[in-house]
Amino acid sequence: MAEIGKDINKAKQLLQEGRLVAIPTETVYGLAANALEPGAVTKIFKAKNRPAFDPLIIHVPSIDRVSHYAKNFPAIAQKLAEAFWPGPLTLVLEKKDSIPDLVTSGLPTVGIRCPNHALTRQLLHELEFPLAAPSANPFGYISPTTPQHVQDQLGSHISYILDGGACEVGIESTIVGFDNGRGVVLRRGGLKIEDIERVIGKISLAINASSNPRAPGQLHSHYAPRKKLLVGDLAILINEYAPHNPGVLAFQQDYKLPFQEILSRSGDLEEAARNLFSALRKLDESPGEFILSEYVPDTGLGKAINDRLRRAACLVQ
Ligand code: TXA
Ligand code: MG
Repeated sequence: MAEIGKDINKAKQLLQEGRLVAIPTETVYGLAANALEPGAVTKIFKAKNRPAFDPLIIHVPSIDRVSHYAKNFPAIAQKLAEAFWPGPLTLVLEKKDSIPDLVTSGLPTVGIRCPNHALTRQLLHELEFPLAAPSANPFGYISPTTPQHVQDQLGSHISYILDGGACEVGIESTIVGFDNGRGVVLRRGGLKIEDIERVIGKISLAINASSNPRAPGQLHSHYAPRKKLLVGDLAILINEYAPHNPGVLAFQQDYKLPFQEILSRSGDLEEAARNLFSALRKLDESPGEFILSEYVPDTGLGKAINDRLRRAACLVQ
């Protein structure tokens, strides 16, 4: 099992030795290693059982580090970084040779993010290299939002989990790429499209291009619990599946069932995002065979929540 603690020096030392450390961010916990060291990066792919074709993003302490790892920094990308970093935004930029091909799965671009979490920012400031870090979950499973989530699934693969408490945003970063200087959203996430558009105007989405995913968070089955997740009209689903003792993931309503999680009683989508992955994990541990859920209102962060429910579901009704 991994040790869980708040010792930045310990995390720093392990990372300098090429070991894996789980780190807190405002979105989800990351499984981090020295991004400039292929031997260390290989350990991430092994621990997660992640296919080599799925590139990693790197984490930096501040905007001025971008030029170390990206060939250019389009004006519009700079504008976004200035507006939203540190924060739940990953920018996909043309990579410099300093970033090993292993990190980017051979792509000419690299995803770069400056996370907004005090402990991890301090750690990044003290390191002389960026941290490659995917979400700290086995490939395809629900992302972790607490140290215990990481421990439960990857504890035997890592020696240290830096404890930064529960993640404040709760869903992964929004990923933006650039096509001829124009922004393209590759993954919906913790930064709302409306907020991006307030800074750079209308932005296009390339989210459902899933035959050759540019961001495998777009793969059809992702963020998935082990149980069968059905998403639709909850009242109808509950009626139909009641004899199977299902787990129920409701947005606001209390269905008074033994295995139920409510994302936000007040209907607050930010609270719902924060609770989503924890709730799914709890229900995955409940006794029944099914998890039943419903979409949340499709506005703001609701779109990112619904995206994850859709990809986690085995059946949408
Ligand atoms: O919030 C987050 O982004 C978290 C925290 C730990 O920072 N990280 C995260 O990493 O969600 P991961 O690996 O679970 O998801 C990153 C996504 C993957 O779907 C990957 O395919 C995509 O980013 N990606 C990475 N590099 C890319 C690139 N060069 N071009 C397009 N997509 C890329
Ligand atoms: Mg992930």
